[in-house]
Amino acid sequence: MQAAISQTYNYKVVRQFAIMTIVWGVVGMLVGVLIAAELIWPDMTLGIPWLSFGRLRPLHTNAVIFAFGGCALMGTSYYVVQRTCQIRLISDKLAAFHFWGWQLVIVLAAITLPLGYTQAKEYAELEWPIDVLITVVWVVYAIVFFGTVMKRKVAHIYVANWFYGAFIVTVAILHIVNSAAMPASFWKSYSAYAGVQDAMIQWWYGHNAVGFFLTAGFLGMMYYFVPKQAERPVYSYRLSVVHFWALIFTYMWAGPHHLHYTALPDWAQSLGMVFSLILLAPSWGGMINGMMTLSGAWHKLRDDPILKFLIVSLSFYGMSTFEGPLLSIKTVNGLAHYTDWIIGHVHSGALGWVAFITFGSMYYLIPRLYGQKQMYSVKLISLHFWIATIGVVLYIAALWISGVMQGLMWRAVNPDGTLTYSFVESVKASYPYWTIRLIGGTLFFVGMLVMTYNVIRTVRMGRAYDAPIPDMLPTHPDLKPQLKPIGLQPAHGD
Ligand code: HEM
Ligand code: HEM
Repeated sequence: MQAAISQTYNYKVVRQFAIMTIVWGVVGMLVGVLIAAELIWPDMTLGIPWLSFGRLRPLHTNAVIFAFGGCALMGTSYYVVQRTCQIRLISDKLAAFHFWGWQLVIVLAAITLPLGYTQAKEYAELEWPIDVLITVVWVVYAIVFFGTVMKRKVAHIYVANWFYGAFIVTVAILHIVNSAAMPASFWKSYSAYAGVQDAMIQWWYGHNAVGFFLTAGFLGMMYYFVPKQAERPVYSYRLSVVHFWALIFTYMWAGPHHLHYTALPDWAQSLGMVFSLILLAPSWGGMINGMMTLSGAWHKLRDDPILKFLIVSLSFYGMSTFEGPLLSIKTVNGLAHYTDWIIGHVHSGALGWVAFITFGSMYYLIPRLYGQKQMYSVKLISLHFWIATIGVVLYIAALWISGVMQGLMWRAVNPDGTLTYSFVESVKASYPYWTIRLIGGTLFFVGMLVMTYNVIRTVRMGRAYDAPIPDMLPTHPDLKPQLKPIGLQPAHGD
């Protein structure tokens, strides 16, 4: 029995994470729609404290980033590391502990955040007992992932694993450093840092959460699923290696762009700005590498909605990584900071890039985990694609306009030096755009429901399936990593 199991990949944990990606996607986006509505009708939740905007906003961000995004990253990383290393995960028990531990973290977050327990650090709100649990679960994740890489049956470590690996190592460091706190009681603690140091540590964390959680891990996904779906090797394997080192080096320094015009020393703000501008180059290098993987196969875009999701996600990645450096320029930031422009930027990355690449990868993955050739309905994938695309465009275009409008209204002065508009006037002027955002967000959510239906039908059609590990290719200790565009070719037996 044991021998038979070791001949297959561990798809069970991948299936679990894949299904929870869909579940948490629905929950997180539903809360997003609710808070978008609350901005228009602040009294709609009848004054119930745990349904107020202030409590639900962190619930939304935690649910979409760490539950939806996290499960997608964890599930796909386990799939990719097994397929490209041609070996089963080193421990089924540890992988199961990782899955259940992470779900427990999410459930605890979903209970404590609406109750108002928070460290008040954005994207790191959870109180210290949950932080300790996250650390334990994350260490187990690292052991399973890197243990599998170490025991691989092929000489080469495929580039997707580098990106997943950087995501795992960096998030561990960020989490431990930023969460350092002195507990005052079981649900209350105080940060180990004070004043501007606290702010700097928080945004070093915050920006690298964008860089490594919302970017590097998803690039790992991109480097596996785009070539697979396009049935083409990665455009330039050499570029992917340059992309990797340039990106992870540069991201680390850009955090201060979140603290322009604050008590942070000027030189640190400028350093953050300069590194953010440099960041355009590796980001676009990666985007171009992904897009060009379609060279000679562009026609596939016409009738393959999965490829549409993957390639459009790269376009949004390119767009948000152009917008980001622009926003980091101090004078531009002076206009955009605190306005809806930032929220628009966030969601062009979060919806257009993170959610789209996840949708594409899940549509590729889920049928394979259930012994099917494809999803229950390709037409529904296409429908999802169009609803979601219209949704994102409405969302971000509305917030660009309202963001610039807000910035301009706040700085407008009369000839006598008094402010032309009161703050409330700018809020009133924003309502039409918030309504368009609500419509766009609702469309995006409806697309998520369409996906859920398609996934349920696919799972019902098939049955849990664990693919066999193919016979090893002969490996030689001297086998050098290949720098040719090997992509996911038979060298990996994948
Ligand atoms: C149905 C889809 C979604 C809707 C309607 C939605 C709506 C919202 C709203 C209304 C806010 C608060 C904005 C404010 O304070 O002015 C927000 C914040 C945020 N959302 Fe979403 N969201 C959605 C999906 C997502 C997804 C999929 C992600 C990430 C993968 C995401 C990440 C974030 C982040 C990071 C923030 C905080 C932004 C900041 O503080 O600058 N959202 N969202
Ligand atoms: C070259 C890449 C990027 C650069 C240089 C960059 C730069 C910036 C800047 C300057 C801000 C505004 C800070 C402020 O005024 O408050 C910002 C906010 C933000 N960006 Fe980006 N960005 C990049 C890519 C992305 C991507 C791809 C995503 C999402 C997947 C993303 C997510 C966010 C989030 C969540 C915030 C809001 C943080 C907050 O809560 O205040 N960024 N970014």
